[in-house]
Amino acid sequence: MEQSLVFIKPDGGERGLIGDVLARFEKRGIKVKQLELKQLTEDQVTAHYQEHIDKPFFPNLKSYILSGPICLMVLEAPSVISIIRKMVGATNSAEADPGTIRGDYALTTQNNIIHASDSPESAAREISNFF
Ligand code: CMP
Repeated sequence: MEQSLVFIKPDGGERGLIGDVLARFEKRGIKVKQLELKQLTEDQVTAHYQEHIDKPFFPNLKSYILSGPICLMVLEAPSVISIIRKMVGATNSAEADPGTIRGDYALTTQNNIIHASDSPESAAREISNFF
């Protein structure tokens, strides 16, 4: 079994997309192990996105993630990290295939509606940052 840390970003909740996104994972057979709607602190955003803190887009990314509550979840299934990354689609939503979450619900790189862990090491770090 493998776990992934996934969150729906503030605009996803604001647009009423939490149920649709969660249903995609559940219908695929992925188990929801933890679920929480949470307003993050600046420290949690900085810890989560530590590899991006020197990037020019980081101030805007931080404001975006702090702009409202996010829907945090720990999802579990065999090979769940790669399965979810395929379901989520490319980071730049403009390049995400139709049928993926970003390809169906988002338009840009920053406001790409959802985050999903990219490796087992990231998942362990991200889960312990939030739960
Ligand atoms: P996420 O998968 O959560 O990981 C890092 C986030 O930073 C990414 O989704 C986007 O929201 C944002 N991001 C990554 N690259 C860029 C970029 N070039 N310009 C703006 N935002 C970015």
